Amino acid sequence: MTVQMAVVPVAGRGTRLLPLAKSQPKEMLPVGRKPVVQYVVEELARCGVSRLLFVTGPGKTAIENHFDIDAELIAHLRETGKEELLEELAFERADIEYFYTRQRRQLGLGHAVLCAKAVVGREPFVVALGDSMIGLHAQSRVVRVMIDQFEETGADAVVALEEVPLEDVVRYGIAVPRDGAAEVFELADLIEKPAMGEVPSTLAVAARYVFSPRIFDCLARTAPGKNGEIQLTDAIRMLIQQGRKVLGVRLSAEQRRFDIGNFQSYFEAFVDFALADPQCGRALREHLREWLAATEEAPPCS
Ligand code: UTP
Repeated sequence: MTVQMAVVPVAGRGTRLLPLAKSQPKEMLPVGRKPVVQYVVEELARCGVSRLLFVTGPGKTAIENHFDIDAELIAHLRETGKEELLEELAFERADIEYFYTRQRRQLGLGHAVLCAKAVVGREPFVVALGDSMIGLHAQSRVVRVMIDQFEETGADAVVALEEVPLEDVVRYGIAVPRDGAAEVFELADLIEKPAMGEVPSTLAVAARYVFSPRIFDCLARTAPGKNGEIQLTDAIRMLIQQGRKVLGVRLSAEQRRFDIGNFQSYFEAFVDFALADPQCGRALREHLREWLAATEEAPPCS
């Protein structure tokens, strides 16, 4: 039986996006026409996921509401002759069963995944971060490739990896390839935020994972690290140290990761998605071109 379950952690506080994310979940922020988490769910549905568990936390009920079927709104659109807008709600009817559990204390991504254990049980599962999209308008099918690799190779973990500029490696979990880094390769280690002098590669862990349930045993034994948080990277390292197979799958250029965790990357994601919008993209491009030309001589922020 193929992997059908995905865990989407959305319980983080999003402090890097204050005040924007103070009273609304960062995963519900708009990027172009949709909230981020809707792109994540649509991507997973296209990759064959049929059961989806959100790990939620305080102030995140807007996410649950967003994926409910809103019968009142549907009736209103029909009664007011706006049938053409019903298509915008088609995602409500995706062939996915939703489950929700709570992370009662925000003790890091690893802890959020561990909170999924009782619901996931002993089956393999995908983890997709709720604040990161893969590919423009989330068109990526890399999770399908990762599931196929997981099933064909008997690995205990498959991790998506993105090429990052050398000066940025200090911000990420970085892969150490066992025998060179092909499209798909085995990891000898993962180093969290390596120092500049000891960079093993420029391939950073990129928001999508497939795990066997063995990851839960590793997470349960992982000691809290910086800020008292349980790091998912540490648990993956433990799998490698136990001699388990952990694979990396490189994202291609079209499968670029858009993470909205800080303002710089959020603004960039919004602009990229809006510029690629089929209806408004062309006009926006023109507007930006004119605006940039006009402000080149007198920058508005100076
Ligand atoms: P981040 O690593 O960006 O952490 O989360 P954060 O706490 O949300 O944000 P900052 O650092 O305070 O700005 C990556 C993903 O993991 C989830 C987040 O909701 C986000 O989708 N997460 C993170 C949890 O579910 N629980 C946690 O304890 C931490």
